[in-house]
Amino acid sequence: MSTRNLPAAPSPAADWFPASWRARPAQQMPTYPNAEALAAAEAKLRTSPPLVFAGEARTLTTALGRVAEGRAFLLQGGDCAESFTEFHANLIRDTFRTILQMAVVMTYGAGMPVVKVGRMAGQFAKPRSSDTETIGGETLASYRGDIINGPDFTAADRTPDPARMREAYHQSAVTLNLLRAFAQGGFADLRRVHQWNRDFVANSPLGPRYEDIARRIDESLAFMAACGLGGQPQLMETDFWTSHEALLLPYEEALTRTDSLTGGAYACSAHMLWIGERTRQPDGAHVEFLRGVGNPIGLKVGPGMTRDDLLALCTSLNPHNTPGRLTLITRMGAEKLATNLPPLLRIAKAEGLNVVWCCDPMHGNTIKATSGYKTRSFDAILAEIRAFFAAHRAEGTHAGGIHIEMTGKDVTECTGGAQAIADDDLAARYDTLCDPRLNGAQALELAFLVAEELKAARQ
Ligand code: PEP
Ligand code: CO
Repeated sequence: MSTRNLPAAPSPAADWFPASWRARPAQQMPTYPNAEALAAAEAKLRTSPPLVFAGEARTLTTALGRVAEGRAFLLQGGDCAESFTEFHANLIRDTFRTILQMAVVMTYGAGMPVVKVGRMAGQFAKPRSSDTETIGGETLASYRGDIINGPDFTAADRTPDPARMREAYHQSAVTLNLLRAFAQGGFADLRRVHQWNRDFVANSPLGPRYEDIARRIDESLAFMAACGLGGQPQLMETDFWTSHEALLLPYEEALTRTDSLTGGAYACSAHMLWIGERTRQPDGAHVEFLRGVGNPIGLKVGPGMTRDDLLALCTSLNPHNTPGRLTLITRMGAEKLATNLPPLLRIAKAEGLNVVWCCDPMHGNTIKATSGYKTRSFDAILAEIRAFFAAHRAEGTHAGGIHIEMTGKDVTECTGGAQAIADDDLAARYDTLCDPRLNGAQALELAFLVAEELKAARQ
């Protein structure tokens, strides 16, 4: 997370200010019963230190610019929703380590640099399809993520509480601190590539495949050392970035800061922020807020994205057509993607839009298992990724990245994969607060497929 470069940030439009979203219709926002408590929580955050520095956000934009130009690949992953109760250094370490393993497989397999972005250190707010949930005749507000309310089905837990914003802020700070230490304090040193492959992943059918790559990296490092090369920071540390859905706008506004170097506004809750599928109305509050901040921005693109909306959103969110500023995260489901993505790729190409195309193969493939659990089949996830690469191959555009819900833990939330998790196995370790995640072994298996697709695309 270095601050090496300092390109001029385009200043936000004259009619934008951090609170300008408040005049627009805002979807998916909680109703806080206590306005004074909300104002107090916002005031406290406004005077709290930023979690990230504007220069870091600019460096990430530059790195994503290389992805937009086809010279790098984006790997974005982490929990569907982080949790206040499941908060532990080992969980953070295991997810970070799995992302490192995936990046090694992709970098080695495809010979392409990988930009690593966690859905971590701030991924707390969730959009929901229904405002309320009814169980046994009782109706309560839906759970909207730990930054808003609690998951238990009690009136106390489900009432939105602004004090949760401060807890989310502090947990994000602590998580980010550990991630920075892991990225730059020796854990990410490539010479430790074998040590990242431990426990259940090493014992899975993917373990030996990973070990093979790790052994070849070892040999390359030994060769480089013998030649007098080695010890470069690129081999001993890594850049790791944070991201989350910018859903809870009072929180995001309160953490917006003016960069003293450029005078631009930055959302300082994370390096990258994205707009969800349910809050991407071109004249809505979320688009209004994010168009004014200098961070790299993601935009979820479902199967219903129209030509007009795509063009309006790209104009509003990336008015200077800066490569790396805007990442379009498609989440269509494998079948719909094959018919609905190519027209969008053609529009972007014809209009000369500089964007990163990234595939979220999770959110268009959610189903209800016979056992009642919300799940996703690993085969459907792989099918969407294959269709994504195929569409880009056919249109001559760069399949730029993947965006996944995953954890380093040995959970049983998505069916299939080399461990052949079945519907009946889901109950064993179904820990997610919201959507089903890939476990470490499934995530690594997916990385091998992506590496093959990337290699094929390059040839
Ligand atoms: C998510 O990424 O967790 C999410 C809710 O995605 P989407 O907005 O694409 O449904
Ligand atoms: Co999700």
